Amino acid sequence: MSNDEPVIAKPKPYLVPVKQGNRYAWCACGRSKAQPFCDGSHSNTVFKPVLFTAAKTEDILLCGCKHTRSGPYCDGAHNNLQDTYEEASEAEITAMKAAKLVARNGGATGKALLDGGAYVLTPDFAAATHKGALSVLSLIAHVDGAEDLSLCRFAVTQGCSPWRQHKCSDTVLFVISGKGVVHIEDTAFEATPETGIFIRMGEAFRIEAAQDLQIVAAICPHAEAVLWSDQPTGSFDQQFPERRVSVDHTKTNVMADRFYQVLVDNRVGSTQVTQFIGEVPLSRAAFHRHLYEEAIVILSGEGMMWTENCRAPVSPGDVIYLPPRQGHSLECTSNEGMRLMGVFYPAGSPAINY
Ligand code: FES
Repeated sequence: MSNDEPVIAKPKPYLVPVKQGNRYAWCACGRSKAQPFCDGSHSNTVFKPVLFTAAKTEDILLCGCKHTRSGPYCDGAHNNLQDTYEEASEAEITAMKAAKLVARNGGATGKALLDGGAYVLTPDFAAATHKGALSVLSLIAHVDGAEDLSLCRFAVTQGCSPWRQHKCSDTVLFVISGKGVVHIEDTAFEATPETGIFIRMGEAFRIEAAQDLQIVAAICPHAEAVLWSDQPTGSFDQQFPERRVSVDHTKTNVMADRFYQVLVDNRVGSTQVTQFIGEVPLSRAAFHRHLYEEAIVILSGEGMMWTENCRAPVSPGDVIYLPPRQGHSLECTSNEGMRLMGVFYPAGSPAINY
């Protein structure tokens, strides 16, 4: 190994507790015996440790592969260290063979409860509530054990919904199907399939359908209080005039043989929530965790959701809820692959896992 190449100390990040105000030296060369911290082993190399002060007392993910572009933190570069995304090993598959197959608690619809509060939901659309032309179905909420992430399905078959507002929560919409317009205060955004739209907390919005619109809305942090009104409240935040992001294959990120495109994030003003669309080939991901709370909506393809001791099949329209740090693996069993929409809180990168 030449002295200008980093050593891969570990093909995944290190989850490390740090204390606010403490200073740390992250090993950038990969040769330290005190990973992920420096022990001076870089001396004959071109590398220097990265010094940082912890902004707050928390657990953070420090890069172990030494290929990150934002050292000391993991940025997901470890996913591209090999040609295929890290798949479940034979040993992992054997170890999880006994995972219990969990049925939905409502027969064809309802929840399949997995480990640690995670679940797979096949929505029962008959349970939706109605407000004028808008039908609302809760998919993930506090009552389901969620912390700050909430998700619901909006449907407008014709005409316009009433104005809706979340005083203390950001709203991130994903258009599943149909055509229409989302009005945010006095500004209108075209709603077409596979489009993400960001609504800042406090802004009133309404949905106008030209064709039967189906939309999934992430509302974070979770909000009980919803304000309804007959008119907009006034202030569209001009700091972020563009709020709509649609799928653009030129903006796809490659994670070995998987692809994802971040839709709504801080580029359109969303600093708390990240939304992405992903493509998964016929494969089973290696077991992994995230520090964020996540919801996944299956758009196409069949598969299986695995946690430590449980598994449940997933199909188009199903919703997966994952609490922070919950170990999981999504398996795609369709030859043509699987397409999904993911949204998580707090914001970050879909590629960061440990
Ligand atoms: S561990 Fe290095 S980028 Fe993730």
